[in-house]
Amino acid sequence: MGGILIVEDDESLSRLLEKKLREKGFRVDRAFSGQEARDLISTKGYDIVLLDLRLRDMNGMEILREFSKTTSTKFIVITGYGDVRTAVEAIKSGATDFIQKPFSFDILEVSIDRALKEKRLEEENRALRSILLEKDQEVVLETKNPALRGVMETVERVARTDINVLLRGETGTGKEVIARYIHRTSSRRDRPFVVVDCSAIPEHLFESEIFGHEKGAYTGATQRKIGLVEIANGGTLFLDEIGDVPIQVQPKLLRFVETRSFRRVGGLKEIKVDVRIISATNRNLEEMVSKGEFRSDLLYRLNAVEIHVPPLRDRREDIPILVKFFLGKYKKKIRPETMRTLMNYPWPGNIRELKNTIERAALLSKGEYIDDNICLRTDSESLCPEELFSKLPSLEDLELMYVDYLYRRLGSVTKVAQVLGCSRRTVFRKLKRLRDRNGDLEEGSLPRFAPDVN
Ligand SMILES: Nc1ncnc2c1ncn2[C@@H]1O[C@H](COP(=O)(O)OP(=O)(O)OP(=O)(O)O)[C@@H](O)[C@H]1O
Ligand SMILES: [Mg+2]
Repeated sequence: MGGILIVEDDESLSRLLEKKLREKGFRVDRAFSGQEARDLISTKGYDIVLLDLRLRDMNGMEILREFSKTTSTKFIVITGYGDVRTAVEAIKSGATDFIQKPFSFDILEVSIDRALKEKRLEEENRALRSILLEKDQEVVLETKNPALRGVMETVERVARTDINVLLRGETGTGKEVIARYIHRTSSRRDRPFVVVDCSAIPEHLFESEIFGHEKGAYTGATQRKIGLVEIANGGTLFLDEIGDVPIQVQPKLLRFVETRSFRRVGGLKEIKVDVRIISATNRNLEEMVSKGEFRSDLLYRLNAVEIHVPPLRDRREDIPILVKFFLGKYKKKIRPETMRTLMNYPWPGNIRELKNTIERAALLSKGEYIDDNICLRTDSESLCPEELFSKLPSLEDLELMYVDYLYRRLGSVTKVAQVLGCSRRTVFRKLKRLRDRNGDLEEGSLPRFAPDVN
């Protein structure tokens, strides 16, 4: 969770370092033995560990070997005067730098500064790599539905331009899939496609996530941070769930959309980037405008072209195409009557729900055909109280089942957390609990729609 850990058994030196580092605005913990240091590093995590190699209970080198390769923590080693061989060994074992006793605080400060820069760079590279390498999922864009055909024609046309596109449609209809398709077929295809999930960024971090910040812009901003718009330079910026952009950030975003230029938080320099902007939402932005929750000028800028992705229930003729596509990798077949059931179901979670249902059925069905029962679990009738309560679930059972049900329908922990009004961490914990527990359950000991996830 950031901050610096001082591992030093000389109490007076340790206290002095703590005081000086605190004065510089760092969060500081202290450990006096190797064991204490191990516990703290593995439970709390630090940006930097100042590690004295001569500890009472062990050689600091052991700690270095244990953690330097497996964590992103930077280690600055403190060695005795003239102990060059140890210093070299420490660097080989993964230390970023070493300092010889006695040392002046200025030297330590320079070393810390460098280590933090290195760490930040590594993190940025990692983020970039994951953005660039994220493979486009396989999708099927074939359709027999006239409305969607019209949509796809518009998509092909706008892909050749740099015009701002707003994608609208219910949850799970494939807005992100279409945004990626636009990027992939545009001239920007070899540059990054950067997703900004506006619903997942806490309000107070929004500006710095998107535009970045300069060192010292606020407490805790120990290094410069590059924002997502800069990472997207040359490519496409996908503003997902645009309706969730906090109202106080909207003027800045508007200015960026108009001019493609911005300032990092705490920065003076005007930076210009070349990005294509696609946004998406399932919320009613016009209603939000009338309630003063969304700026009309921003909406007007974002929706130069508006594309409505139809819900699955309005394109039932495509259900067989999608089902066969999702079944593709599972070597399972589907009976005509099962397909009919699927075509009659309203699919409130749209393609996402269909995909989850089919993949789940394919995994759980034992025979050559996917099991009717498993598919039918999505049917709202299977939620009838008689069936649900036939096995007398406990309150915890109910809670976990509901979390799992929402997760399968909404497909994202963030969204489940929003629906339930709890933290994402809580949702994760419950899903994990359910999985751990279901491992021990006998088949059928939960009600039928219960998540026997494996
Ligand atoms: N044409 C398609 N072919 C295959 N899979 C698809 C297709 N469209 C959507 N999906 C799948 O359905 C799921 C939901 O798609 P996507 O994330 O694009 O929806 P969305 O409209 O952005 O939903 P939300 O509003 O909840 O963010 C994804 O797992 C995606 O892979
Ligand atoms: Mg989406």
